[in-house]
Amino acid sequence: MSIYHVGILVGSLRKASFNKKIAQFILEQEESKFGYRLIDISELPLYNQDFDDEGNPPASYTRFRQELASLDAVLFITAEYNRSVPAVLKNAIDVGSRPYGKNKWDGKPAAILSSSTGVYGGFGANHHLRQSLVFVNLLTMQQPEAYLGDITTCIGTDGTVESQKTKDFLRSFKNAFEQWAERIIHTKGQD
Ligand SMILES: Cc1cc2nc3c(=O)[nH]c(=O)nc-3n(C[C@H](O)[C@H](O)[C@H](O)COP(=O)(O)O)c2cc1C
Repeated sequence: MSIYHVGILVGSLRKASFNKKIAQFILEQEESKFGYRLIDISELPLYNQDFDDEGNPPASYTRFRQELASLDAVLFITAEYNRSVPAVLKNAIDVGSRPYGKNKWDGKPAAILSSSTGVYGGFGANHHLRQSLVFVNLLTMQQPEAYLGDITTCIGTDGTVESQKTKDFLRSFKNAFEQWAERIIHTKGQD
């Protein structure tokens, strides 16, 4: 039975997304103290501060913010678009951070895994995302870093993670993230 709730946000909307397949691999791992679930960011309209200033946010914003409030930790698994964070994911960060003073990310442990079909494994997206996470005060694991390059070679024709090296890496990354998250959650509990 899981004690801690982790939301996975995927930075790609594509049906056959490789990043979604990596998220699926994480979801299928043996149950631990950490329970993972996907957080849907596809229905969030582009952030417009008027929604909040006028006290009339879209229902999808309210649902998303409530869901974030119920999480103990956040795992980002993202594609890279033009060496940066795909807009859909940046939009979700912005929606979760507002209205002013009600930042739903504040103080939660987080980690970033990026992957791409290119050789650099989404390094640019990974680090641009990290910059935003500093500002919204998500406490993001620094090591191990996770940049999965040439991702097409790691996924089999059935759409699952095929490469043993990638599977081993993903499991060790998940373990490290859980240790990191538990440390943060316990420290917060002692405040
Ligand atoms: C608009 C756009 C920009 C992209 N820019 C990059 C990039 O900067 N670096 C890179 O390695 N791949 C880039 N790609 C290729 C993506 O890595 C590739 O489409 C990958 O499959 C996206 O992740 P997904 O499979 O989870 O959707 C780009 C793809 C798109 C559609």
